[in-house]
Amino acid sequence: MKVCVLGAAGGIGQPLSLLLKLQLPAGSQLSLYDVAPFTPGVAVDLSHIPTDVSVRGFVGDDVEAAMAGADIVVIPAGVPRKPGMTRDDLFNMNAGIVKKLVAAGAKACPNACFAIVTNPVNSTVPIAAEVLKSAGVYDKRKLFGVTTLDVIRSQTFVADLKGKSCDDVNVNVIGGHSGVTILPLLSSVPGVELSQDEIESLTLRIQEAGTEVVEAKAGAGSATLSMAQAATRFTLSLVVAMNGESVVECCYVQTGDATSSFHAQPVKLGKNGVDSIPALPALSDYEQKLLDQMRDTLEANISKGLEYANA
Ligand code: LMR
Repeated sequence: MKVCVLGAAGGIGQPLSLLLKLQLPAGSQLSLYDVAPFTPGVAVDLSHIPTDVSVRGFVGDDVEAAMAGADIVVIPAGVPRKPGMTRDDLFNMNAGIVKKLVAAGAKACPNACFAIVTNPVNSTVPIAAEVLKSAGVYDKRKLFGVTTLDVIRSQTFVADLKGKSCDDVNVNVIGGHSGVTILPLLSSVPGVELSQDEIESLTLRIQEAGTEVVEAKAGAGSATLSMAQAATRFTLSLVVAMNGESVVECCYVQTGDATSSFHAQPVKLGKNGVDSIPALPALSDYEQKLLDQMRDTLEANISKGLEYANA
């Protein structure tokens, strides 16, 4: 399995690359690319860790060389938020980065699975879809927005509140990856009973958790370490699935026939990416109301990405 990280020298990219170096199966190749000139140095540094994962670093014009033959491309490249900004405020800075990197991927590894971390995910994933489509290599089963951070945050916050081990808590999160589009399904957490008050305050905290980190970092960026862990979990699940063992993860994928139909929900992953999309668990009235209310925002985010990609 060859995994390529684009933006590998950045705040998310470095811990993500470390976690992958430690946890990818023996025999895997890790290919690191960034515009930062010291990226080959990050690769040399990681290569001294004794695991059976080979590491190479690429920089500058070598993005296609970095991706050549990759099975999975993870993209955390881009600019993070500062206090007072929404994820959508990053659109003008990050849309072009994703467009350029995915266009290179369409040439270098057209059959790869692409996992997009770069915000605003609700819009950058539709951009990636259009880029792959115009290169004639789009396979909706192989494009993902990584929303795993919403899942692990939900797991942590519910476990804290209920005094449970995090290992015993599993929360599905649907919708998208920003503000009101993040909808944790707290009424159907196996083995956990939450009151409506608890559900409402946890929902708000999970929706605003990215902002909680942005404010705590006070201008020095957004979540990097927890995002790296989330992207690692998603990548490793994809590796397991592509090796033949199916796994379910919540992620943001094209759920209908049109590229205007992106949605995060539990997805069964298999050898070729998305294997199937199971039916959602029954939603409470409160969750159904939030799902209905988010639709316009999510559709606007998706349209913005599609219009940008096709302009
Ligand atoms: C997060 O959820 O922490 C990330 O999407 C980064 C951000 O800007 O909130």
